[in-house]
Amino acid sequence: MIFLSNCFLILVGLTGVCYCSITTVKETSVKPGESISIPCLYESKYEKHVKYLCKGFYWATCSDVVKTNKPDTSGKFSVQDDKEQKTFTLNINHVESTDSDYWCVVEIDGGADVGEYFRLSVSGTPALSVDNQEMEGFLGENITINCKFHNSAPEKWCKLGGNCVTKSSEFVDGTRVIFKKNDTTYSVTMMGLKQENSGWYWCVKGQFQMPVHLTVTERPASTLTSVTLMPVTMNVTNVTQPSVKERMDPTVFFISLGLLIFIVLVALFVLFVLKCKKTKKEPATEKTEVGVVYSDVTFKKKKTSEGIAAESDGNVTYSSVVSFKQQDRRVKQK
Ligand SMILES: *[C@@H]1O[C@H](CO)[C@@H](O)[C@H](O)[C@H]1NC(C)=O
Ligand SMILES: *[C@@H]1O[C@H](CO)[C@@H](O)[C@H](O)[C@H]1NC(C)=O
Ligand SMILES: *[C@@H]1O[C@H](CO)[C@@H](O)[C@H](O)[C@H]1NC(C)=O
Ligand SMILES: *[C@@H]1O[C@H](CO)[C@@H](O)[C@H](O)[C@H]1NC(C)=O
Repeated sequence: MIFLSNCFLILVGLTGVCYCSITTVKETSVKPGESISIPCLYESKYEKHVKYLCKGFYWATCSDVVKTNKPDTSGKFSVQDDKEQKTFTLNINHVESTDSDYWCVVEIDGGADVGEYFRLSVSGTPALSVDNQEMEGFLGENITINCKFHNSAPEKWCKLGGNCVTKSSEFVDGTRVIFKKNDTTYSVTMMGLKQENSGWYWCVKGQFQMPVHLTVTERPASTLTSVTLMPVTMNVTNVTQPSVKERMDPTVFFISLGLLIFIVLVALFVLFVLKCKKTKKEPATEKTEVGVVYSDVTFKKKKTSEGIAAESDGNVTYSSVVSFKQQDRRVKQK
């Protein structure tokens, strides 16, 4: 267990690229009482290993606070391992001023664990911050991340395990980036998002890094439906007006359609019930008929009694036809 992390710095051209067993932030600034998520990228050979967070400045003496196979019961620390992205994320809630030194660690069975140090700089005016570490973007669209700062060092935007960009129109993770900056914030816009842009990035300002997780999905179907319906409604209403109206029209259209369907359904139901009454009546008249059969009364009497019964039910034609037929049959049988 008592070994230093193995991180080799290899210079490729003019940019330093770190080929480490584990890659994470060096220093992140955070306000006391807030929560922070720190991603740790690991080599694919560690996919099945246990991952954990170790607290303390020295590797030799740091203490495990949460592991992927041992949750922290206090709820202050948690860890999730995303094996697809080869990244485990450490969450630290309610950060205090004593919460400053940590290690992302991969457990090695029967060997020395592999760890990478990161520091939390706990301060009321964080050097670098974002409003939300969890961002959601839509395929083909743009997303803007605002990185707020309190220092004058140069800024960057980096992909975890990938490259960094420092000025507009450069590409990070295959996507063009636009930088904008004022006295307190620099914003990074990634244009024309692709599925593979999902993952961890970070704002960089001098020694500070602030991780941001980006999820790229399809724009929800409900929005697409209203978009595709728009031309139809515009044609019907002959209106070329702003989006509020265009969005209202499909709703009205659907309500009217719903009402129409409802009326049709009610009409069908009424028809069905009427038909049911008809078909149910037939056996009833037959029973009365059968009841009368054994008494050898004359046909005339039967006819009249049935005729009255049928008339009271408002079904004269149909039932009288049936009774006649049956009478004929009975005559033949006799
Ligand atoms: C993305 O940003 C660029 C540059 O500002 C703009 O031209 C383009 O229309 C934006 N695309 C979308 C889908 O908003
Ligand atoms: C700087 O830009 C951010 C984001 O665009 C904005 O919210 C903020 O108000 C701006 N600040 C100043 C001082 O212009
Ligand atoms: C409405 O649609 C029809 C057929 O698609 C088209 O011929 C007509 O020009 C459209 N009218 C308007 C006002 O867009
Ligand atoms: C509305 O439709 C009529 C013909 O159907 C057309 O002459 C007129 O230009 C249309 N108005 C608008 C605002 O599209």
